[in-house]
Amino acid sequence: MKQDMIVILDLGSTENARVARAIRSLGVYSEIYPHDTPLASLKAMPNVKGLVLSGGENRVVDGAEVDVEPAVYTADYPLLIVDHPKAPRQDAPAWPQSEEEMKSLLSDFLFEKCHAEANWNMQNFIDDQVELIRRQVGDKKVLLALSGGVDSSVVAALLIKAVEDQLTCVHVNHGLLRKGEPEQVVEVFRNQMKANLIYVDAVDRFLDKLAGVSEPEQKRKIIGAEFIRVFEEEARKLDGIDFLAQGTIYPDIIESGTKTAKAVKAHHNVGGLPEDLKFQLVEPLKMLFKDEVRACGTALGLPDSMVYRQPFPGPGLGVRCLGAITRDRLEAVRESDAILREEFAKAGLQGKVWQYFTIVPDFKSVGVRDNARCFEWPVILRAVNTVDAMTATVEPLEFALLQKITQRIVTEVKGVNRVLYDLTPKPCGTIEWE
Ligand code: XMP
Repeated sequence: MKQDMIVILDLGSTENARVARAIRSLGVYSEIYPHDTPLASLKAMPNVKGLVLSGGENRVVDGAEVDVEPAVYTADYPLLIVDHPKAPRQDAPAWPQSEEEMKSLLSDFLFEKCHAEANWNMQNFIDDQVELIRRQVGDKKVLLALSGGVDSSVVAALLIKAVEDQLTCVHVNHGLLRKGEPEQVVEVFRNQMKANLIYVDAVDRFLDKLAGVSEPEQKRKIIGAEFIRVFEEEARKLDGIDFLAQGTIYPDIIESGTKTAKAVKAHHNVGGLPEDLKFQLVEPLKMLFKDEVRACGTALGLPDSMVYRQPFPGPGLGVRCLGAITRDRLEAVRESDAILREEFAKAGLQGKVWQYFTIVPDFKSVGVRDNARCFEWPVILRAVNTVDAMTATVEPLEFALLQKITQRIVTEVKGVNRVLYDLTPKPCGTIEWE
């Protein structure tokens, strides 16, 4: 392994992810482990240069204070103890609020006390992962559900580098993807990267299952369950697959709960697999934050349009074609979304606005076109900025840009005679409409 590592032992702090990021931003790799990780396990990890004991408000679990193994205090690792009232160092400071102070505290620890080398970079990460994947997989076969999203695309690129034709990717087109996405997956992975790619056209199957279903959660459940069914069918057609690769990333693991922190939300990557699919998991991105996943994708040669995509929900355009999905309204969502993305790119807003898309409701309004009455759908535009998707603000778009997008949508998208801009922040409006 090429990288030095600092281990953060979680003693109930809510700052762990921020600390790990700060250490990595100083060029040293860092991972978070539970407080009761045995000293023997720490010693078994390669290149551990120091330990950060990170205590905080969740330190009391079930009425008792958690602590590290006593032997950890006397082991010969440099220790940084922060906000940890019972530790030998009684003057343990709290984590600094400002990033500058945080970095200065950590920099002193990493380089003066631990003598760590600032050797955490994407190339070393990729080299290490390639070696680890080869060691884990051996000469066995690996299967990957390749949605075309950032995480699964980067996993695919990494596995192609590590085990080449032992990898089979399955791309399920459920008919709810954005314009051009299935084509891009085929172009990049099958044509450019020469991956074994099984392309499954399941459009009719999904739309038939969804026909007449208007309740949003019911729609989500159908899409999720059908996706697993299609994927399982493809998996069972293949012989001798032992491993399933997944694009699980570090926030999925952190948010799914640790020993001291409550789960923020259950991620279906973590623990939601069908039980009778007997695969071992390969999750090479599980220690990366999102921006690091993107950097990894770029280093592996993936196009920016794939790596810097805005977030896109699993149920796709299905939650933006409100109520019971019909093919014509779904097409209106897809076409108006493509226009919005094109105009945002031209206006230099791509990569600046966090998420932007269109919605087509299931009601019509009266309009006039070519001197005749028309009765057609509206398109709603949504463009928001957020850090964590828990709250969001609306992007103050230029009026001229709104007019231009409106003009294009009402002339180019079939069945649409009105365009609206949603000005509601979150709360109280969620980002999606369903
Ligand atoms: P809301 O609408 O809850 O969205 O404000 C917050 C973020 O989550 C995305 N989102 C989803 N992602 N499956 C997903 O994978 C879903 O069912 C889903 N619903 C919302 C949404 O696009 C936004 O980025």
